[in-house]
Formats: sequence, structure tokens, C-alpha cells
Amino acid sequence: MNTAFAMHNKLTGLALVVLGASMLSGCRVERQPNYEWLPWLNHMFFSSAAETNTASTIFKNKLTNQVPPAGTIPRGFTPLHFTADDAGRTLAGEQLVNPEKPTPETLARGKVVFQTFCTPCHGTVGAGDGPVSKRGMPGFPIGGAANNAAKWPDGYLFHIVSYGRGVMPSYASQIKQEDRWKAILYLRQLQQTAAQPATTP
Ligand code: HEC
Repeated sequence: MNTAFAMHNKLTGLALVVLGASMLSGCRVERQPNYEWLPWLNHMFFSSAAETNTASTIFKNKLTNQVPPAGTIPRGFTPLHFTADDAGRTLAGEQLVNPEKPTPETLARGKVVFQTFCTPCHGTVGAGDGPVSKRGMPGFPIGGAANNAAKWPDGYLFHIVSYGRGVMPSYASQIKQEDRWKAILYLRQLQQTAAQPATTP
């Protein structure tokens, strides 16, 4: 065995010992972080993220759950300022444009939304024959080319889904805006393709 080889062996052994030790120290199960190499960067070791519903040391009112500042609007959300009546519906029909375009993805999503929220009353293809309608609620056909819904602009339908109309409830709290528009795209597809009764009550 020559000296260079013996030296090499020793170094490898040393490296293995160091590696093993560091692996062992990494196995400690503790809530505290391991050795702090850069203590002045300790905000990276000790997260300041708060648990929900706990007392806060940062905010004046000592709560971790803060109310968003007045006037804050969530991303992708358009505040609606229409009245919940005929005038508001007509105005929405004139002012709102469907931001979603028909693609296989948006139509597939629209179908899911429609089948989840609209078919109970309006039926699977919008013929007004959903299970709820069969039990007495007036069933409005909306999926046929000759139905009123086919003649109204997207914004008008968006208003109906967002504010409700007559005995139809508002779906504003259950369906996010983006999905409401996609359901309308899908309804448009139904109106072009599905065989429907031509009558509107
Ligand atoms: C709980 C039953 C029910 C559900 C669910 C429902 N609707 Fe309606 N919908 C009605 C009723 C009842 C009317 C008639 C309201 C009236 O008398 O003004 C109506 C009316 C409509 C109209 C106007 C039809 C016309 O010719 O006047 C449209 C468009 C419409 N709904 C779309 C939808 C869409 C889209 C969904 C799903 C997001 C949906 N509805 C979910 C019950 C429902």
C-alpha cells in the first residue's frame, strides 16, 4: 500500500464520519430549527407566520385574523353594482361582457358548474325538467334556441345567476364569478346544439 493511497483512504474515512454525524444531527425531531449558521438571518429560521385565531403581537388589535382594508377587492372579482330588479338586469345585459371565451376547457368547466347548480331545476340540457321542477317548482326551459334565455345577452343571464330572479335564488355565494360566466358559455352551447321544446312559459 503506498502512502498516497493510505492518505486517500483516511480522508474518505473522515469524510464518511463527518457525513454520518451530520445526517444523525439532521434526524432530530424538534420544532426548533437545527444549528443556525447565519444567526443574523434568523427570520429565515423562525417563521413569523401566525397560527389562525391566536393572539398577535404585531397588530394593534392583537388578533392574527385581520379584516382586509376598506375597499380591498379580491383578485379576479368584479364588484357588481346593479339593482336586483328588471332595470338592473337590463343594465347588466348592456354593460357586462363575458370575459371567458369558449374553449374545450372553459366549456368542460361550465358543464360541471351547470350540472351541479342548474340542472336540479332546469334539467340536464336546460329543458326545464329538473327533479325540483318535477316536484312543483316552475321549470323554466333555458337551453333551447327558442327560449327567452337564448335571446338575452350574457350579462343579463349573469345578473339572473348572481342576483336570482323570482323564486330562483342567487348563486353569488356558491359559484365564483369566473365559473358563472363559464356556465353561461355552456348554456350557449346547449342553446345551439340540444334538441329543446320551443316553448317558454
Ligand atoms: C332552485 C331551482 C333553480 C336553480 C337551481 C336554478 N334556477 Fe334558474 N330559474 C328558476 C326559476 C323558478 C326561474 C324563473 C324565475 C322567475 O319566475 O322569475 C328561473 C329562471 C332562470 C332564467 C330565466 C329564464 C326565462 O326564460 O325567464 C335563467 C336564464 C336561469 N334561470 C338560469 C339559471 C342558471 C344558469 C342556473 C345555474 C347556475 C340556474 N338558473 C339555477 C329556478 C332555478
